[in-house]
Amino acid sequence: MSATQTFRIASIPADGVGKEVVAAGRRVLDAVAENSGGKFEFRWTEFPWGCEYYERTGQMMDENGLEALKAFDAIYFGAVGWENVPDHVSLWGLRLNITQNFDQWANVRPVKFLPGVQSPLRKADHTELDWVVVRENSEGEYAGLGGRNLAGRGPGNEVALQTALFTEKGCERIMRFAFDLARTRTVKKVSSVTKSNAQQYGMVLWDDVFKRVALDYPDVQTESVLVDAMSAKFILRPEDLSVVVASNLNADILSDLGSALAGSLGLAASANLNPERRFPSMFEPVHGSAPDIAGQGISNPIGAIASAALMLDHFGLHQEARLVEAAIEAATAGGHLTRDVGGSATTDEVTDAVVVALSRSLSAV
Ligand SMILES: NC(=O)c1ccc[n+]([C@@H]2O[C@H](COP(=O)([O-])OP(=O)(O)OC[C@H]3O[C@@H](n4cnc5c(N)ncnc54)[C@H](O)[C@@H]3O)[C@@H](O)[C@H]2O)c1
Repeated sequence: MSATQTFRIASIPADGVGKEVVAAGRRVLDAVAENSGGKFEFRWTEFPWGCEYYERTGQMMDENGLEALKAFDAIYFGAVGWENVPDHVSLWGLRLNITQNFDQWANVRPVKFLPGVQSPLRKADHTELDWVVVRENSEGEYAGLGGRNLAGRGPGNEVALQTALFTEKGCERIMRFAFDLARTRTVKKVSSVTKSNAQQYGMVLWDDVFKRVALDYPDVQTESVLVDAMSAKFILRPEDLSVVVASNLNADILSDLGSALAGSLGLAASANLNPERRFPSMFEPVHGSAPDIAGQGISNPIGAIASAALMLDHFGLHQEARLVEAAIEAATAGGHLTRDVGGSATTDEVTDAVVVALSRSLSAV
């Protein structure tokens, strides 16, 4: 028998429902490994970072945390944010600290419609819908550039600047990523999301790079759509979408819209990739810490489990990734649904259903 391959994974559940859904995803991944016939195993190390850690230490993660994370093959993340820490402090202190410093510049967010989950979109009942949002994840509106504090001018006169950064290299690499991804899909099309009518510097550069990169992919259809029109298109003509490439903020908003159309924020998966593999990539559900339902055991684990499938793809375990996705579909089609998608199942019950479906198909392989 060949040697077992070990994948070292850093798990960072962080806050709120992050803890519940990461536990669910770990169970599924461990079930995949157990059924691999000794081909591979996952070695987990859990880090206690997040808002409780901040309460104790005044920091969102350990000072040497990034150094520690470099040793892992991937990071499996829950969600960050709690009422004891301002959101911009918790987000920049943990999640953005990792994505920015590990140059995880491509954020892949598939929009998937699942059997048994009712979409608020009537069209979804009789139309095949499946697209993926590719988000520029290293610059744009989340470059962290700007400043605040001209408070010396006196009360009521403070000024803040939040500057978006667009570089030709940053635009080009995310667009090539989107085109390469489109080539792997049935519908070979990339839709670029812009706002160059109003943002005449950064977004015009974005458009220019898109036109130039498109010339290298004559086999891929293209369109350039203003972000306001694209939000309407997500609802009215989603069947026209395959790969949607957008800047950091625009893609963040549009991917939430996409997951809401699929039925819930709790369903959406994401991969923060460093495609050159100089640093570990990070896999996490799109949703936040959901303080309104945290601790009740009713959070939807599917976004986190589907993110685990994206991690399997990253490891080259494509067959296993497809089996996890099929197990998710078997669970939802079988009516194992949490409250956010109209059911009454708990997080554990949905996870059980996925694990059962998975074990059945893995033992048949
Ligand atoms: N990637 C991240 O870590 C991330 C992303 C978004 C928001 N946040 C943080 O999360 C906190 C809450 O933010 P928010 O309320 O705007 O967004 P949220 O995603 O936490 O919640 C929005 C809505 O979606 C529901 N929801 C989210 N995940 C769900 C799940 N798995 N199952 C069922 N329902 C789910 C919530 O109950 C809520 O009604 C804030 O501190 C915010 O900064 C973190």
